[in-house]
Order: sequence, then structure tokens, then C-alpha cells
Amino acid sequence: MTDQTAPADPFGFLGLTYDDVLLLPGYSDLAPSDIDTTSRLTREISLKIPLISAAMDTVTESAMAIAMARQGGLGVLHRNLSIEDQATQVDLVKRTQTGIITNPVTIGPDATLEELDTLAGQFRISGFPVVDSDNKLIGMVTNRDLRFTPVAEWATTKVDEVMTPQPLITGPAGISRDDATLLLRKHKLERLPLIDPDGRITGLITVKDFVKSEQFPNSSKDGQGRLMVGAAIGYFGDAWQRATALIEAGVDVLVADTAHGNVRMLIDMVKRLKTDPATKDVQVIGGNVATRQGAQAFVDAGADAVKVGVGPGSICTTRVVTGVGVPQITAVYEASLACKPAGVPVIADGGLKHSGEIGKALVAGADSVMLGSLFAGCEETPGDLVLVNGKQFKTYRGMGSMGAMSSRGKKSYSKDRYFQAEVTSDDKIVPEGIEGQVAYKGPLATVAHQLIGGLHQTMFYTGARTVPELQANGRFVRITSASLKESHPHDVQMTVEAPNYSGF
Ligand code: XMP
Repeated sequence: MTDQTAPADPFGFLGLTYDDVLLLPGYSDLAPSDIDTTSRLTREISLKIPLISAAMDTVTESAMAIAMARQGGLGVLHRNLSIEDQATQVDLVKRTQTGIITNPVTIGPDATLEELDTLAGQFRISGFPVVDSDNKLIGMVTNRDLRFTPVAEWATTKVDEVMTPQPLITGPAGISRDDATLLLRKHKLERLPLIDPDGRITGLITVKDFVKSEQFPNSSKDGQGRLMVGAAIGYFGDAWQRATALIEAGVDVLVADTAHGNVRMLIDMVKRLKTDPATKDVQVIGGNVATRQGAQAFVDAGADAVKVGVGPGSICTTRVVTGVGVPQITAVYEASLACKPAGVPVIADGGLKHSGEIGKALVAGADSVMLGSLFAGCEETPGDLVLVNGKQFKTYRGMGSMGAMSSRGKKSYSKDRYFQAEVTSDDKIVPEGIEGQVAYKGPLATVAHQLIGGLHQTMFYTGARTVPELQANGRFVRITSASLKESHPHDVQMTVEAPNYSGF
């Protein structure tokens, strides 16, 4: 007879992580060109590649965010810096030209060449449409036009004396890429001004930016053709000011960046961001959580996506310092139980070591993945290369490490991520992360190519043409530590490094 009074097994809930599972192969009738890795980042934003770079001070600043958006993913700017500095970083990404400049800097015909030179230096651009007081295009002027006038005469020479006046080759507002390319080629133009039927300037295409944007056909762009960017926010102190400054700077996605997101103050902040008329149009990601109930709280608060991960990160010590966490595959699955019915995407944050884990995360219930260590070795991450025994490395540290949380002569803005905003003395900090280094891997483009190449293969092996198909049809098999050993190279001494494998 069973003992009716015995409590339910307190350890009955088994948590699994990436190394505990593999994906089952499935029937496949796909050509490589059939495979589409587009996935949802938030309720309103989709990405061509479901990769996000972590909001960490050794991973994402503007250079990395630009590179991520160009590849078709998204960078989330870290917040271990002042509000002004973080907003400037957002601005730098949004100003990166992607082809068609929708509000080009213009100059009037009566401006002097001295003023033209100053403007060119200030905006770091070399050519300007010349417009009258009604914004009608009357000519083009470039740095080159300056060269034929002695500097001594710049203060007295006016723009309309040196500009190339109308009639110019122009394009209509809303011109297609193909038509613009034809015009640029046919007339060997450096710049193509775009005008409306009344002759008013509406845009400018420069051949340099156009070529660059052709190199990045997958790039993540907003409605105005600018690169997309995310930025991290907290919920303590001046968090609201930070959020609004970032919105003013043009941020596309605000990402709640905290180790434990299931807290009232943050949930209230997400609610406020999604209801205040000044902020409700920006996409807001809640996080981090690792349970169904934690995810549900963000869904109920109106979050546009939920980020999952308590302690899986390569540099994290949260689980050993606090004893708290949920193995990542289970955490993602649990969160998806709350998010899926509401149509809210899930982001699997941390713990990925190889490309194969991207597909595992997607099948477990995620829609995209956030990566720290896999990206930290990229050329575009902050920090210099370090040479150790002839090998190149880049610094990588947890945002809860001593280095990121202690002041060391500078203010730390990352302490509140770990509930320690009020700790004033460095020796009272309880770190939840470590400081280290990862091998230098070269430009993000090559790193992303390997990661997405791996995901393509996952989709081929499982017979999934799209990410939703992978999510719907992907099946796991649970494995043992013996099979994990079998999965990795074994019984061989590796003699040549592979670009996508760094060992256990
Ligand atoms: P990976 O494994 O990709 O993880 O390197 C990156 C994610 O780890 C989280 N993170 C931390 N977690 N202590 C933690 O417990 C830390 O110091 C720390 N720093 C970052 C974060 O979610 C990041 O995206």
C-alpha cells in the first residue's frame, strides 16, 4: 500500500541543459537555398539570423552593434556606462549609413566655403545637396569643389559660386535599388540626390554606402533603412531616464538587463514603458527569468519578448554563489509554456558553446539566442588584443565580476544587475561572475558565418525549411554522459584547429 501522507517528491523536477540532449534527424528534401533562418526577436521585429550579442562591456558597443545588424542579427549595447555615453552609442549605430540617406545634411547657396568646410568636418561627409529656403535642390557641392579655391578666399567665397548647379542627374523619391544602381552606373555618379515632384530634396544615395549595403543584404534595418540596435536598461535609480534618453537617441529595442527579472520594480517598469504614450512604441524585452511563472509575469506586463537564463553563462558563478538557477534547456522550455500561447518570442541567453546549441535552443522553445563568449573574441568587441604565448586573446568578463562591479577609479553602472546598487565599498561586493579571456576569432562576419552555417545544417538534418518548422517538428533525444563523450571528437589527438570547434 502506498503511504498517502508522503509528500510529493521534492526533487521530481529534472532540469536539462544543452549537453543533455540531441536533436533527432528527420526526413529532408531541401536544397541549401530553401533554408531560411528568419526568426522573431520581439512581437514586432524579425531578424534574418536569430543571433543577439550580449549586453556586456567586453562584447557590445557601437562597433559590434553595427556589425551585428549588418549580418542580420542585433547587438544590445551594454549599460556599464553613463546614460549620455550609452545614448551616443545608439546614435552612432543609427547614423551608420545603409544606402539611402533619408534626411541628408544640406547647405544653402549663401553659405561660405569656410562654413562648408566646418560642416563637412562636423558630419564627416564630403558632399552636400545645395537647397534654397524652400528646400528645393539647386545644386551639389563637394569637398572637391573646395580644392580649386585658395583657402584665403574661403571666408568670402559662397557655395553657389563653386557648386555644380541644376540641371543635375536626380532620382525620384522612393526610387528602387535597381533603378538607383542603373543611374549611378550609367552616369558614373558618386552621389544621387532624390527629389519629390516639386523638386524638394527627399534623400541622397552615395555610391560608397550603396556598395556597402549591397555587401549586407540581410542587414537588420528599421522602417527608415537605418541599422537596428538594442540597448540594456536596469530598473534601479535613474533607469527611467536611461530608457527615455535611449528612446530619444533612436533605440529600437530596450532590453531589461538584470540577473533576476522576476521582481516587482522591473515588471512595473515594463508595464509603464508599454503604456506611457512617450515610450510604448519601442520594443521592450523583459528578463532574465528561468521559470514559467517568471515569463508569465512579463507576458502579463506587456513585454514584447522574454529573455531566459539564470546562471548558464560561461562567465557566470550565480549558480555556485547562490545555489539558484535552472538548467538552460528546461528553463527555455518552461518559459515558452507561458510565452507561446501569448505569441511572445523567447530569447535563450547564455550557455551556448557551439553552433549546434542554437538549433537545440530553438526546438526547446526559443526564437533567438543571445551570445557572450561565442562573440567575445570578435574583432569588433571592445578591448585590445592580448598576446599570450604567441596566441591572440580578447578579454571577456561577467557583468557580475569584480572587474565590472568594482569602481577601480571609475563608476560602475552594472552593480544593480546583481542587486548590489547600494554597496558602496568594493570589498563588500559579492561577485557572481569571473574575468577571463577568449581566443581572438577575427571579424564577426566569419564567426557569424560559422554559427549560421551550423544552424543551416541543423535545419537540413532535421528537414526544417524555416525556423517555425524547426520549432514545430524538432524532437529531442535525451543522452547520457557516455554519449556526450561520443558526440565530441574522441580517441584522436587534434592537430589542426577547426574554425567552429574549440573542444569540450
Ligand atoms: P555566455 O555563455 O554566452 O553567456 O558567455 C552570456 C550571458 O551571461 C550572462 N552574464 C552573467 N551571468 N554572472 C552571471 O551570472 C555574470 O557576471 C554575468 N555576466 C553576464 C548574461 O545574461 C549574458 O548575456
